[in-house]
Amino acid sequence: MTQDACALLDSDHQKVERLFAEYQAAGNDQSRKSKLAQVICMELTVHTTIEDEIFYPAFRKASGEDNLVDEAEEEHEEARDLISQIEDADQMDPLMAELQKAIEHHVQEERKEMFPKALKTKGLDLMALAAQLESRKTELMAGYQPA
Ligand SMILES: [Fe+2]
Ligand SMILES: [Fe+2]
Repeated sequence: MTQDACALLDSDHQKVERLFAEYQAAGNDQSRKSKLAQVICMELTVHTTIEDEIFYPAFRKASGEDNLVDEAEEEHEEARDLISQIEDADQMDPLMAELQKAIEHHVQEERKEMFPKALKTKGLDLMALAAQLESRKTELMAGYQPA
């Protein structure tokens, strides 16, 4: 199946949304919650890295949407900060709730603003970018070590 870069990135978003819902549903099952938190942190770390390395620079260059990309990069910074706190927290729930809220906001901006603009940007090869994102993602997933 071939999909463009925006569809590929949004399927990551949907996966993380499902994982956050599973985390919420896990109730008092601490070992399940801590496994889910680890998977969520890994997925988000890899996702923000491939956006930062590949998608954002290509979109910035082709569209000139500097403010939009600057803001998205700042939100990635905030997410990374929360992730590093979660990885060595005794009490994950409040931090996970904060991360979920921050990611929901960030994903809405990509879905409603950035991706629709990317789809209309001339000179942005979304199929070629999808292939680059996919291969970098595979590489990062294979080498991921939790902090
Ligand atoms: Fe994203
Ligand atoms: Fe992002």
